[in-house]
Amino acid sequence: MKILVADYIYTPNGFVENQAVAFDDLIREINTLETLLKNHPQAELIRTEPHSVIYPGFINTHVHLEFSANKTSLEYGSFMPWLDSVIEHRDDLMGACNNAIMQRECEEMMYSGITTFGAISSFGNELEVCEKTPQRVVFFNELIGSNAIYADMLYGDFMERVKASQSCKPSSHITPAVAIHSPYSVHPIILQKAINIAKQNKLPLSAHFLESQAEREWLVSGSGELKSFFEKYFNTSTPVTNIKEFMHAFDTYPTHFTHCVQATKEELKHLTDKGHSIAHCPRSNRYLGCGRLKIEELDLPFSVATDGLSSNDSLSIFDELRAALMLHNDIPIQDLATQLLQTVTEDAAEILHLNCGKIEADRWADFAVVTLPEAPKREEEIALWSILYTKQVSEVYIEGEKYV
Ligand code: BEZ
Ligand code: FE2
Repeated sequence: MKILVADYIYTPNGFVENQAVAFDDLIREINTLETLLKNHPQAELIRTEPHSVIYPGFINTHVHLEFSANKTSLEYGSFMPWLDSVIEHRDDLMGACNNAIMQRECEEMMYSGITTFGAISSFGNELEVCEKTPQRVVFFNELIGSNAIYADMLYGDFMERVKASQSCKPSSHITPAVAIHSPYSVHPIILQKAINIAKQNKLPLSAHFLESQAEREWLVSGSGELKSFFEKYFNTSTPVTNIKEFMHAFDTYPTHFTHCVQATKEELKHLTDKGHSIAHCPRSNRYLGCGRLKIEELDLPFSVATDGLSSNDSLSIFDELRAALMLHNDIPIQDLATQLLQTVTEDAAEILHLNCGKIEADRWADFAVVTLPEAPKREEEIALWSILYTKQVSEVYIEGEKYV
Protein backbone atom coordinates (compact mmCIF):
# COMPACT_ATOMS: atom_id res chain seq x y z
CA MET A 1 0.00 0.00 0.00
CA LYS A 2 1.10 3.57 -0.76
CA ILE A 3 -0.24 6.88 0.47
CA LEU A 4 0.07 9.88 -1.82
CA VAL A 5 -0.43 13.28 -0.24
CA ALA A 6 -0.73 16.67 -1.96
CA ASP A 7 -2.20 20.12 -1.30
CA TYR A 8 -5.18 19.29 -3.50
CA ILE A 9 -6.88 16.26 -4.99
CA TYR A 10 -9.11 16.56 -8.07
CA THR A 11 -12.19 14.48 -7.22
CA PRO A 12 -15.66 14.08 -8.75
CA ASN A 13 -16.71 16.65 -6.10
CA GLY A 14 -14.14 19.24 -7.12
CA PHE A 15 -10.70 20.05 -5.70
CA VAL A 16 -10.43 18.90 -2.08
CA GLU A 17 -7.77 20.14 0.32
CA ASN A 18 -6.00 18.36 3.19
CA GLN A 19 -6.68 14.86 1.93
CA ALA A 20 -4.54 11.97 0.73
CA VAL A 21 -5.04 8.80 -1.35
CA ALA A 22 -4.23 5.24 -0.22
CA PHE A 23 -3.74 2.77 -3.06
CA ASP A 24 -2.14 -0.42 -4.27
CA ASP A 25 -3.15 -1.32 -7.83
CA LEU A 26 -6.57 0.17 -7.02
CA ILE A 27 -7.53 3.29 -5.10
CA ARG A 28 -8.50 2.06 -1.64
CA GLU A 29 -9.35 5.14 0.40
CA ILE A 30 -9.39 8.93 0.26
CA ASN A 31 -9.18 10.56 3.64
CA THR A 32 -7.05 12.82 5.84
CA LEU A 33 -3.42 11.77 6.05
CA GLU A 34 -3.84 11.09 9.77
CA THR A 35 -6.71 8.66 9.20
CA LEU A 36 -4.98 6.93 6.31
CA LEU A 37 -1.79 6.43 8.36
CA LYS A 38 -3.91 4.94 11.13
CA ASN A 39 -5.83 2.65 8.75
CA HIS A 40 -2.76 1.59 6.74
CA PRO A 41 0.19 1.70 9.16
CA GLN A 42 2.50 -0.29 6.82
CA ALA A 43 1.92 1.98 3.84
CA GLU A 44 4.74 3.84 2.11
CA LEU A 45 4.12 7.59 2.46
CA ILE A 46 4.83 9.70 -0.65
CA ARG A 47 4.79 13.47 -0.19
CA THR A 48 4.39 15.45 -3.41
CA GLU A 49 6.09 18.81 -3.90
CA PRO A 50 4.40 21.92 -2.44
CA HIS A 51 1.45 23.29 -4.49
CA SER A 52 0.74 19.93 -6.11
CA VAL A 53 -2.60 18.61 -7.31
CA ILE A 54 -3.28 14.89 -7.74
CA TYR A 55 -5.30 14.24 -10.89
CA PRO A 56 -6.53 10.90 -12.23
CA GLY A 57 -4.21 9.92 -15.09
CA PHE A 58 -5.24 11.75 -18.25
CA ILE A 59 -6.81 9.92 -21.20
CA ASN A 60 -6.05 10.78 -24.84
CA THR A 61 -8.79 8.93 -26.69
CA HIS A 62 -7.48 9.47 -30.25
CA VAL A 63 -3.89 9.36 -31.50
CA HIS A 64 -2.14 7.89 -34.58
CA LEU A 65 1.32 6.72 -33.46
CA GLU A 66 2.17 5.37 -36.93
CA PHE A 67 2.50 8.94 -38.23
CA SER A 68 4.97 10.00 -35.54
CA ALA A 69 7.78 10.65 -38.06
CA ASN A 70 5.95 13.62 -39.57
CA LYS A 71 7.41 17.05 -38.86
CA THR A 72 7.12 19.11 -42.05
CA SER A 73 6.25 16.52 -44.74
CA LEU A 74 2.50 16.97 -44.57
CA GLU A 75 0.87 20.17 -45.76
CA TYR A 76 -1.12 22.05 -43.13
CA GLY A 77 -3.67 24.81 -43.69
CA SER A 78 -6.45 23.12 -45.62
CA PHE A 79 -7.87 19.57 -45.59
CA MET A 80 -7.52 18.52 -49.25
CA PRO A 81 -3.90 19.62 -49.79
CA TRP A 82 -3.16 17.83 -46.50
CA LEU A 83 -4.89 14.61 -47.69
CA ASP A 84 -2.98 14.79 -50.98
CA SER A 85 0.26 15.16 -49.04
CA VAL A 86 -0.69 12.12 -46.92
CA ILE A 87 -1.03 10.02 -50.08
CA GLU A 88 2.25 11.40 -51.41
CA HIS A 89 4.28 10.89 -48.23
CA ARG A 90 2.52 7.99 -46.54
CA ASP A 91 5.04 5.32 -47.49
CA ASP A 92 8.05 7.50 -46.56
CA LEU A 93 6.50 8.48 -43.25
CA MET A 94 5.58 4.89 -42.39
CA GLY A 95 9.06 3.73 -43.36
CA ALA A 96 10.70 6.39 -41.22
CA CYS A 97 8.51 5.65 -38.21
CA ASN A 98 10.28 2.98 -36.18
CA ASN A 99 9.63 1.63 -32.70
CA ALA A 100 12.12 4.05 -31.11
CA ILE A 101 10.22 7.07 -32.49
CA MET A 102 6.84 5.72 -31.37
CA GLN A 103 8.21 4.80 -27.95
CA ARG A 104 9.53 8.33 -27.53
CA GLU A 105 6.06 9.70 -28.30
CA CYS A 106 4.51 7.37 -25.72
CA GLU A 107 6.99 8.82 -23.21
CA GLU A 108 6.11 12.35 -24.34
CA MET A 109 2.46 11.54 -23.63
CA MET A 110 3.45 10.06 -20.27
CA TYR A 111 5.31 13.26 -19.27
CA SER A 112 2.14 15.21 -19.99
CA GLY A 113 0.29 12.86 -17.61
CA ILE A 114 -1.43 10.60 -20.15
CA THR A 115 -1.84 7.17 -18.56
CA THR A 116 -4.26 5.80 -21.18
CA PHE A 117 -4.50 6.42 -24.89
CA GLY A 118 -6.60 5.25 -27.81
CA ALA A 119 -4.22 4.28 -30.63
CA ILE A 120 -5.77 4.36 -34.10
CA SER A 121 -3.83 1.74 -36.04
CA SER A 122 -3.90 1.47 -39.83
CA PHE A 123 -1.35 -1.34 -40.16
CA GLY A 124 -0.76 -2.76 -36.70
CA ASN A 125 2.83 -1.51 -36.77
CA GLU A 126 2.61 0.05 -33.33
CA LEU A 127 1.22 -2.99 -31.50
CA GLU A 128 4.61 -4.02 -30.10
CA VAL A 129 5.30 -0.52 -28.74
CA CYS A 130 1.79 -0.33 -27.29
CA GLU A 131 2.31 -3.70 -25.57
CA LYS A 132 5.56 -2.50 -24.03
CA THR A 133 4.55 0.99 -22.96
CA PRO A 134 3.40 1.16 -19.32
CA GLN A 135 0.27 3.06 -20.35
CA ARG A 136 -3.08 1.43 -20.93
CA VAL A 137 -3.88 1.35 -24.65
CA VAL A 138 -7.24 0.99 -26.36
CA PHE A 139 -5.94 -0.43 -29.64
CA PHE A 140 -8.28 0.70 -32.43
CA ASN A 141 -7.69 -1.50 -35.49
CA GLU A 142 -8.67 0.70 -38.39
CA LEU A 143 -10.64 -0.46 -41.42
CA ILE A 144 -10.14 1.43 -44.68
CA GLY A 145 -11.10 0.73 -48.29
CA SER A 146 -13.89 2.14 -50.45
CA ASN A 147 -13.19 0.02 -53.53
CA ALA A 148 -15.45 -3.07 -53.56
CA ILE A 149 -12.84 -5.04 -55.55
CA TYR A 150 -10.32 -4.89 -52.70
CA ALA A 151 -12.85 -4.84 -49.86
CA ASP A 152 -12.64 -8.54 -48.93
CA MET A 153 -8.86 -8.51 -48.91
CA LEU A 154 -8.75 -5.35 -46.76
CA TYR A 155 -11.35 -6.78 -44.42
CA GLY A 156 -9.31 -9.99 -44.05
CA ASP A 157 -6.22 -7.96 -43.17
CA PHE A 158 -8.28 -5.93 -40.67
CA MET A 159 -9.52 -9.12 -38.98
CA GLU A 160 -5.95 -10.43 -38.68
CA ARG A 161 -5.00 -7.24 -36.87
CA VAL A 162 -8.06 -7.44 -34.61
CA LYS A 163 -7.05 -11.01 -33.67
CA ALA A 164 -3.44 -10.00 -33.00
CA SER A 165 -4.60 -7.27 -30.61
CA GLN A 166 -6.97 -9.73 -28.92
CA SER A 167 -4.14 -12.11 -28.14
CA CYS A 168 -1.96 -9.64 -26.22
CA LYS A 169 -1.03 -10.62 -22.65
CA PRO A 170 -3.31 -9.07 -20.00
CA SER A 171 -0.21 -7.46 -18.42
CA SER A 172 0.23 -5.35 -21.57
CA HIS A 173 -2.96 -3.41 -20.73
CA ILE A 174 -4.23 -3.58 -24.32
CA THR A 175 -7.95 -3.31 -24.97
CA PRO A 176 -8.71 -4.49 -28.55
CA ALA A 177 -10.99 -2.11 -30.44
CA VAL A 178 -12.30 -1.23 -33.91
CA ALA A 179 -11.94 2.01 -35.89
CA ILE A 180 -13.64 2.91 -39.16
CA HIS A 181 -11.47 5.30 -41.17
CA SER A 182 -14.30 7.54 -42.46
CA PRO A 183 -17.54 7.55 -44.50
CA TYR A 184 -15.72 8.40 -47.73
CA SER A 185 -13.05 5.70 -47.43
CA VAL A 186 -14.91 2.59 -46.23
CA HIS A 187 -17.30 0.53 -48.37
CA PRO A 188 -20.71 0.04 -46.66
CA ILE A 189 -20.49 -3.77 -46.87
CA ILE A 190 -17.27 -4.08 -44.90
CA LEU A 191 -18.38 -1.20 -42.68
CA GLN A 192 -21.36 -3.23 -41.49
CA LYS A 193 -19.23 -6.35 -40.98
CA ALA A 194 -16.74 -4.41 -38.85
CA ILE A 195 -19.49 -2.81 -36.76
CA ASN A 196 -20.94 -6.30 -36.16
CA ILE A 197 -17.53 -7.53 -34.99
CA ALA A 198 -17.30 -4.64 -32.52
CA LYS A 199 -20.83 -5.30 -31.30
CA GLN A 200 -20.49 -9.07 -30.94
CA ASN A 201 -17.18 -8.79 -29.08
CA LYS A 202 -18.15 -5.64 -27.13
CA LEU A 203 -15.11 -3.80 -28.52
CA PRO A 204 -14.87 0.01 -28.33
CA LEU A 205 -15.74 1.50 -31.72
CA SER A 206 -14.54 4.74 -33.27
CA ALA A 207 -14.84 6.54 -36.63
CA HIS A 208 -13.63 9.80 -38.17
CA PHE A 209 -16.78 11.65 -39.17
CA LEU A 210 -17.49 14.98 -40.92
CA GLU A 211 -14.05 16.43 -40.38
CA SER A 212 -13.94 18.81 -43.35
CA GLN A 213 -16.18 20.80 -45.65
CA ALA A 214 -14.78 18.76 -48.56
CA GLU A 215 -15.97 15.53 -46.90
CA ARG A 216 -19.44 16.98 -46.39
CA GLU A 217 -19.72 18.19 -49.97
CA TRP A 218 -18.58 14.82 -51.37
CA LEU A 219 -21.04 12.86 -49.24
CA VAL A 220 -23.95 15.24 -49.88
CA SER A 221 -23.54 15.94 -53.59
CA GLY A 222 -20.65 13.86 -54.92
CA SER A 223 -18.79 17.03 -55.85
CA GLY A 224 -15.99 19.26 -54.63
CA GLU A 225 -12.32 18.65 -53.97
CA LEU A 226 -12.78 14.99 -52.99
CA LYS A 227 -14.21 14.29 -56.46
CA SER A 228 -10.94 15.07 -58.20
CA PHE A 229 -9.09 13.19 -55.42
CA PHE A 230 -11.11 10.02 -56.07
CA GLU A 231 -10.81 10.43 -59.84
CA LYS A 232 -7.05 10.82 -59.54
CA TYR A 233 -6.22 8.06 -57.07
CA PHE A 234 -9.14 5.63 -57.21
CA ASN A 235 -10.58 6.03 -60.69
CA THR A 236 -14.09 6.62 -59.33
CA SER A 237 -16.29 9.68 -59.23
CA THR A 238 -19.17 8.74 -56.94
CA PRO A 239 -19.19 8.36 -53.16
CA VAL A 240 -19.86 4.86 -51.77
CA THR A 241 -22.25 6.13 -49.10
CA ASN A 242 -23.94 9.27 -47.77
CA ILE A 243 -24.11 10.90 -44.35
CA LYS A 244 -27.41 9.33 -43.29
CA GLU A 245 -26.58 5.82 -44.38
CA PHE A 246 -23.17 5.97 -42.68
CA MET A 247 -24.49 7.48 -39.46
CA HIS A 248 -27.41 5.04 -39.20
CA ALA A 249 -25.07 2.07 -39.54
CA PHE A 250 -23.92 2.87 -35.97
CA ASP A 251 -27.40 3.33 -34.50
CA THR A 252 -27.34 0.30 -32.24
CA TYR A 253 -23.80 0.59 -30.89
CA PRO A 254 -22.41 3.67 -29.08
CA THR A 255 -19.42 4.94 -31.02
CA HIS A 256 -16.68 7.50 -30.43
CA PHE A 257 -16.87 9.80 -33.49
CA THR A 258 -13.78 11.89 -34.18
CA HIS A 259 -14.06 15.57 -35.27
CA CYS A 260 -17.74 16.09 -36.34
CA VAL A 261 -16.79 19.72 -37.00
CA GLN A 262 -19.01 19.86 -40.09
CA ALA A 263 -21.99 18.02 -38.58
CA THR A 264 -25.30 19.90 -38.55
CA LYS A 265 -27.39 20.39 -35.41
CA GLU A 266 -29.73 17.62 -36.61
CA GLU A 267 -26.85 15.20 -37.13
CA LEU A 268 -25.42 16.04 -33.71
CA LYS A 269 -28.85 15.48 -32.20
CA HIS A 270 -28.97 12.07 -33.85
CA LEU A 271 -25.54 11.19 -32.40
CA THR A 272 -26.77 12.35 -28.99
CA ASP A 273 -30.00 10.34 -29.23
CA LYS A 274 -28.09 7.17 -30.08
CA GLY A 275 -25.69 7.48 -27.13
CA HIS A 276 -22.57 8.32 -29.16
CA SER A 277 -19.67 10.57 -28.15
CA ILE A 278 -17.14 12.81 -29.88
CA ALA A 279 -13.34 13.02 -29.85
CA HIS A 280 -12.58 16.71 -30.25
CA CYS A 281 -9.12 17.49 -31.67
CA PRO A 282 -8.76 21.29 -31.57
CA ARG A 283 -5.23 21.63 -32.94
CA SER A 284 -5.80 19.08 -35.70
CA ASN A 285 -8.98 20.89 -36.77
CA ARG A 286 -7.20 24.26 -36.75
CA TYR A 287 -4.08 23.03 -38.55
CA LEU A 288 -6.10 21.37 -41.32
CA GLY A 289 -8.43 24.34 -41.72
CA CYS A 290 -11.48 22.27 -40.83
CA GLY A 291 -13.22 24.79 -38.56
CA ARG A 292 -14.23 24.86 -34.91
CA LEU A 293 -16.44 22.27 -33.22
CA LYS A 294 -19.10 24.25 -31.32
CA ILE A 295 -18.54 22.46 -28.02
CA GLU A 296 -20.84 24.93 -26.24
CA GLU A 297 -23.77 23.51 -28.24
CA LEU A 298 -23.01 19.81 -27.66
CA ASP A 299 -25.36 17.73 -25.63
CA LEU A 300 -23.33 14.53 -25.79
CA PRO A 301 -20.11 13.48 -24.02
CA PHE A 302 -16.89 14.53 -25.69
CA SER A 303 -13.20 14.07 -25.03
CA VAL A 304 -10.32 16.32 -26.04
CA ALA A 305 -7.68 14.38 -27.96
CA THR A 306 -4.44 15.12 -29.79
CA ASP A 307 -4.97 13.18 -33.04
CA GLY A 308 -1.60 12.11 -34.48
CA LEU A 309 1.57 13.98 -35.38
CA SER A 310 0.20 13.83 -38.92
CA SER A 311 -1.96 16.81 -37.94
CA ASN A 312 -0.31 18.15 -34.81
CA ASP A 313 2.98 19.37 -33.39
CA SER A 314 2.99 17.40 -30.12
CA LEU A 315 1.12 14.65 -28.29
CA SER A 316 1.05 16.57 -25.00
CA ILE A 317 -2.47 16.68 -23.59
CA PHE A 318 -1.65 19.99 -21.87
CA ASP A 319 -0.59 21.55 -25.20
CA GLU A 320 -3.96 20.38 -26.52
CA LEU A 321 -5.91 21.80 -23.58
CA ARG A 322 -4.15 25.16 -23.93
CA ALA A 323 -5.07 25.19 -27.63
CA ALA A 324 -8.70 24.40 -26.72
CA LEU A 325 -8.72 27.38 -24.34
CA MET A 326 -7.63 29.62 -27.22
CA LEU A 327 -9.85 28.10 -29.93
CA HIS A 328 -13.05 28.39 -27.91
CA ASN A 329 -12.44 32.02 -27.05
CA ASP A 330 -16.08 32.94 -26.36
CA ILE A 331 -16.52 30.48 -23.49
CA PRO A 332 -15.70 31.92 -20.03
CA ILE A 333 -12.18 30.72 -19.39
CA GLN A 334 -12.57 29.34 -15.86
CA ASP A 335 -15.64 27.30 -16.83
CA LEU A 336 -13.94 26.05 -19.96
CA ALA A 337 -10.79 25.01 -18.06
CA THR A 338 -12.91 23.05 -15.58
CA GLN A 339 -14.88 21.38 -18.36
CA LEU A 340 -11.75 20.53 -20.38
CA LEU A 341 -10.16 18.70 -17.45
CA GLN A 342 -13.32 16.66 -17.06
CA THR A 343 -13.26 15.69 -20.75
CA VAL A 344 -9.78 14.13 -20.44
CA THR A 345 -10.51 12.30 -17.19
CA GLU A 346 -14.00 11.22 -16.14
CA ASP A 347 -15.74 11.71 -19.52
CA ALA A 348 -13.00 9.98 -21.54
CA ALA A 349 -13.03 7.01 -19.14
CA GLU A 350 -16.80 6.68 -19.43
CA ILE A 351 -16.64 6.92 -23.22
CA LEU A 352 -14.04 4.12 -23.41
CA HIS A 353 -15.60 2.10 -20.54
CA LEU A 354 -12.44 2.18 -18.43
CA ASN A 355 -12.32 1.96 -14.64
CA CYS A 356 -10.25 5.12 -14.29
CA GLY A 357 -10.67 8.87 -14.78
CA LYS A 358 -11.91 9.52 -11.25
CA ILE A 359 -10.18 9.59 -7.89
CA GLU A 360 -12.54 7.43 -5.87
CA ALA A 361 -12.30 4.05 -4.11
CA ASP A 362 -12.07 0.92 -6.32
CA ARG A 363 -10.89 2.77 -9.44
CA TRP A 364 -7.55 1.86 -11.00
CA ALA A 365 -4.69 3.69 -9.28
CA ASP A 366 -3.64 5.85 -12.25
CA PHE A 367 -2.52 9.36 -11.28
CA ALA A 368 -0.84 12.42 -12.75
CA VAL A 369 0.56 14.93 -10.25
CA VAL A 370 0.58 18.55 -11.41
CA THR A 371 2.74 21.02 -9.50
CA LEU A 372 1.74 24.68 -9.65
CA PRO A 373 4.40 27.41 -9.44
CA GLU A 374 2.87 28.79 -6.24
CA ALA A 375 -0.15 28.25 -4.00
CA PRO A 376 -3.39 29.01 -5.87
CA LYS A 377 -5.09 32.04 -4.36
CA ARG A 378 -8.60 30.98 -5.34
CA GLU A 379 -9.74 27.38 -5.53
CA GLU A 380 -11.96 28.06 -8.55
CA GLU A 381 -8.85 28.87 -10.60
CA ILE A 382 -6.92 25.63 -10.00
CA ALA A 383 -8.18 24.10 -13.25
CA LEU A 384 -7.00 27.09 -15.28
CA TRP A 385 -3.62 27.35 -13.55
CA SER A 386 -3.11 23.61 -14.02
CA ILE A 387 -3.69 23.93 -17.77
CA LEU A 388 -1.68 27.10 -18.25
CA TYR A 389 1.40 26.16 -16.20
CA THR A 390 1.85 22.44 -16.85
CA LYS A 391 4.53 21.74 -19.44
CA GLN A 392 5.29 18.40 -17.77
CA VAL A 393 3.62 16.69 -14.84
CA SER A 394 5.80 15.95 -11.82
CA GLU A 395 4.71 12.34 -11.10
CA VAL A 396 2.82 9.60 -12.93
CA TYR A 397 1.40 6.35 -11.49
CA ILE A 398 -0.21 3.56 -13.47
CA GLU A 399 -1.82 0.63 -11.66
CA GLY A 400 -0.13 1.96 -8.52
CA GLU A 401 3.42 1.91 -9.96
CA LYS A 402 5.43 5.09 -10.36
CA TYR A 403 6.71 5.86 -13.89
CA VAL A 404 7.63 9.56 -13.66
C1 BEZ B 1 -10.06 4.67 -49.87
O1 BEZ B 1 -9.65 3.53 -49.73
O2 BEZ B 1 -11.10 4.91 -50.44
C2 BEZ B 1 -9.30 5.84 -49.28
C3 BEZ B 1 -8.09 5.64 -48.64
C4 BEZ B 1 -7.41 6.73 -48.12
C5 BEZ B 1 -7.94 8.00 -48.23
C6 BEZ B 1 -9.14 8.19 -48.88
C7 BEZ B 1 -9.82 7.10 -49.40
FE1 FE2 C 1 -7.46 10.91 -36.53
